[in-house]
Amino acid sequence: MSFSLIIGEDMKIAIDGPAGSGKSTIAKLLSKKLNFEYIDTGALYRAITYIIKTENLDAEDEENISNIIKNTNFRFHNNKIYVNEICIESEIRKNSISKNVSDVAALPFIRNLVNSVIRKIVDISENIILDGRDIGTVVLPDAELKIFLDATPGIRAKRRYLELLDKNESISLKEIKEEIIQRDYIDSNRDVAPLRKAVDAIVILTDDLNIQEVVDKIYNLLNNDL
Ligand code: DC
Repeated sequence: MSFSLIIGEDMKIAIDGPAGSGKSTIAKLLSKKLNFEYIDTGALYRAITYIIKTENLDAEDEENISNIIKNTNFRFHNNKIYVNEICIESEIRKNSISKNVSDVAALPFIRNLVNSVIRKIVDISENIILDGRDIGTVVLPDAELKIFLDATPGIRAKRRYLELLDKNESISLKEIKEEIIQRDYIDSNRDVAPLRKAVDAIVILTDDLNIQEVVDKIYNLLNNDL
């Protein structure tokens, strides 16, 4: 297979991987470099978790949550998520959301709601990068390029720890590592659309690579025969 970087060709790139593998950081930089749209699909699961938490909803109450979500406007602007025109980017990154989001994302009706939001954005975009857990397998099975980013749990925990430290959230490295392992477990073992590498995805292990090296690796893949 070979790719050429012709903008306007309706190219879709899927980036999947576990928590802390660097998906969002890489996808953001790559989308900028390629001038592609970008959807952080995890942000949608986080936003719904945030709504459930702040509105004190019962996560299993499918009818009520479906009604609320169908009447809610989700929008990305400058890589930040807006819900009914209010930016909730910093709220959804808090550890209180990270701790609960995997359970919410395991509910099939929530996945359907998120996928219909994603579909609407994909349908009006020409070239797009999506990152998540089931992009290459379920959301964009026909993506021209599928990447599976991975890193060992210790490295991923350290990255998340430094991110949270930067935001003045106090949590120990040990706790983060335990939470990451727990989230990997829930994300990989749910019945619907579990975290999986698509058979045709290219695996990139990021333990020993810095952000720019990963971006360059993917960019080079787009320009070379695979
Ligand atoms: O990438 P993240 O940590 O922001 O993702 C938040 C959660 O959402 C994570 O527990 C897995 C879930 N998720 C998912 O199930 N499917 C996706 N396409 C994206 C995220």
